[in-house]
Amino acid sequence: MTAHQPSVKATKIAGGVHTDQRHDSAHKHVTGEAIYIDDMPEPRGTLHGCLGLSTVAHGKMVKIDLAAVRTAPGVVDVLTAKDVPGVNDISPTGRHDEPVLAEGVVQFYGQPIFCVIAQTREQARRACKLAKIEYEELPFVVDIGGLDVEKDKLVTPNLTLTRGDAAEAIRKAPRRLKGQVRNGGQDHFYLEGQISMAVPGEDGDVTIYCSTQHPSEVQHMVGHALGVPSHAVTIEIRRMGGGFGGKETQGNQFAALAAIAAKKLGRAVKIRPDRDDDMTATGKRHDFLIDYEIGFDDEGNILGVEFTYGARCGFSSDLSGPVTDRALFHCDNAYFYPAVKAVSAPFYTNTVSNTAFRGFGGPQGMIGAERIIDEVAFATGKDPLEIRRKNFYGTTDRNVTPYHQTVEDNIIHRIFDELEQSADYDGRRREIRAFNNNSRFIKRGLAITPVKFGISFTATHYNQAGALVHVYTDGSVHLNHGGTEMGQGLNTKVAQVVAEEFQIDIDQVKITATTTGKVPNTSATAASSGADLNGMAAQDGARQIKARLIDFAAEKWNVEKDQVVFLPNRVRIGNQEIPFGELIKLAYFARIQLSAAGFYKTPKIHWDRAKGQGRPFYYYAYGAACAEVSVDVLTGEYMVERVDILHETGRSLNKALDLGQIEGAFIQGMGWLTTEELWWDAKGRLRTFAPSTYKIPLASDRPKIFNVTLADWSENRENTVYKSKAVGEPPFMLGMAVYHALTDAVASVADHKLHPQLDAPATPERVLMAIERLKAAR
Ligand code: MTE
Ligand code: MOS
Repeated sequence: MTAHQPSVKATKIAGGVHTDQRHDSAHKHVTGEAIYIDDMPEPRGTLHGCLGLSTVAHGKMVKIDLAAVRTAPGVVDVLTAKDVPGVNDISPTGRHDEPVLAEGVVQFYGQPIFCVIAQTREQARRACKLAKIEYEELPFVVDIGGLDVEKDKLVTPNLTLTRGDAAEAIRKAPRRLKGQVRNGGQDHFYLEGQISMAVPGEDGDVTIYCSTQHPSEVQHMVGHALGVPSHAVTIEIRRMGGGFGGKETQGNQFAALAAIAAKKLGRAVKIRPDRDDDMTATGKRHDFLIDYEIGFDDEGNILGVEFTYGARCGFSSDLSGPVTDRALFHCDNAYFYPAVKAVSAPFYTNTVSNTAFRGFGGPQGMIGAERIIDEVAFATGKDPLEIRRKNFYGTTDRNVTPYHQTVEDNIIHRIFDELEQSADYDGRRREIRAFNNNSRFIKRGLAITPVKFGISFTATHYNQAGALVHVYTDGSVHLNHGGTEMGQGLNTKVAQVVAEEFQIDIDQVKITATTTGKVPNTSATAASSGADLNGMAAQDGARQIKARLIDFAAEKWNVEKDQVVFLPNRVRIGNQEIPFGELIKLAYFARIQLSAAGFYKTPKIHWDRAKGQGRPFYYYAYGAACAEVSVDVLTGEYMVERVDILHETGRSLNKALDLGQIEGAFIQGMGWLTTEELWWDAKGRLRTFAPSTYKIPLASDRPKIFNVTLADWSENRENTVYKSKAVGEPPFMLGMAVYHALTDAVASVADHKLHPQLDAPATPERVLMAIERLKAAR
């Protein structure tokens, strides 16, 4: 086979920015050739771990008898808290409230207490069941209903946002109302579960292949738990089979235990929990209970709002502080509140510690905003669409958020207008009314909901990234950056940026595994900012090398610097053109450095949490969805008939990938609000811990008609990578359209006179109960 020869006559490179380049691994995902951690060849003598989990929600461990576990077939060792050589803590925020293995007390049903290391995974799993642990049970809290932010235990200090005098505005408003809405949590249900394989090295070093969105944090946590410096720990990850926020912090435990065992036993150790253990012992999306009070007028103008956002955080802080903060940052969604007060309440509960999940609290925040829109619509007898439009942020005034950031890039009006047209909202509204009048048992519903989502980590220091770019002497490029690939196509996008910078075909750019050994001190690939941050860092690296090449060529051929121009796969120097690879070879012989470390930090952002004021977000991403559902009023079962989406990603780096993100995010958001239900029993045990009891959307749940369009006119007014916008999380919240369409369908049984007060997830059961409530009240 001959090596690929890039065309030096091309007028355009293959795979630059703003092209529909396929995901670099798409073909490997579908053929099974993509190598996930469990597919890697295991070093000789690899051992396997399995976690022993608690069987009470809260209790003192009075006796731990692991004798039968230790003597079970194949068992090599059993680790308990005593075996943690460093600090028994993996709290990502340094609050010291999350042990690797429980010590003395357990705080939720399913908390890891010990870890069996055996010859095979099956043996480890069987041995786990032989433990005899006696508990002195303690009182426990599972549900947050009735908890009080002033009196009850919080896992982390809460946040208050205020602008104007909300209480006064509500008091003076012509109309007022109060209410509460609940929305459920969500399991990540990544296809590849949590997994870590630790390989011991010399001098006490360890390398861990870990399915994580945050290699640097795993490195720090493992170093901490082992009691060794960060330089002794290397984390590597080529790809995850989905993360969705569930691998921001939740991989730490498995990595730490695999590393502890590997170092203790001098053998490679792999831990891959079964799906039931994974769903029991790892954190999920926070469920929220939102209390609201609103003041408004007869026209449906919102005048003042007060919110309390209570969240079930679980037994430790994990990321609950930033998640509940982000909920408050989205209590406005796309609406201007003349006066507002919003308070978060991150409650301690005896449940698994909840964590990041696509949208990171933002979706839960928006549920509050959209609920009050519906309340005002039902109270005034107007179409929710009219209330939404009336209360949107302005473009030159009415544009200050509850956290005092001015919205400078508002395009929600245009998005809404275009979607209303293309989805034929008005025509279908009339049709649906006529249909419902003539249909006794099937009722249709329609809703259109907006999304405005803030882009940046709200912890300002996370908004930095690094990249490492090498050009080899044949002109091929090795690209590494701090971001991780979880299916979203980040590596493809960053490779497109580097191809564009050098003007070389994308197959000349090698995408490599993320490792803490190449780019240090990285942030989680999260907050949708992977391409924004790492794309810019890689661009910086490529530009440094290009600048050196330009200096070199200008001097060697004695031309001005602006006469050195990078054309597709070649470089024009004065009047002559030479292939890119040839320039590289000459530069090498002239001892020009052909490697660079790129860096980027997001400008303009700042945030003062104590004051509740600042500019936490660099910009906003916008979109809207229109959903139509049909509900069987006898059973509560429903179908999604049609969905139209108009979403923007600025000047898209890659529309094909962005459309995939939008479709997937929408379906995941719809699942959260419809069929995915977490249910704890009276003992605090999560009973929905397998696909048999936890229902994610199937291919058959896809809307029958699904029109997804990118607003191709949009452009990021900020200086982001090629004027693109982030796409990972914002479209998740488009799923709200289905939830509100269900509300609309249910409301039709009482002629839209009563608000159905439908909580999420709007399972068929909940839909049916809402219908029955309305029928009874009618
Ligand atoms: N897409 C796929 N296929 N798999 C994932 O795990 N995670 C989402 C989103 N899209 C995810 C995904 C989440 S939670 C985030 S924050 C972003 O991708 C992270 O990647 P990005 O910043 O590169 O968009
Ligand atoms: Mo995404 S929840 O920020 O990993």
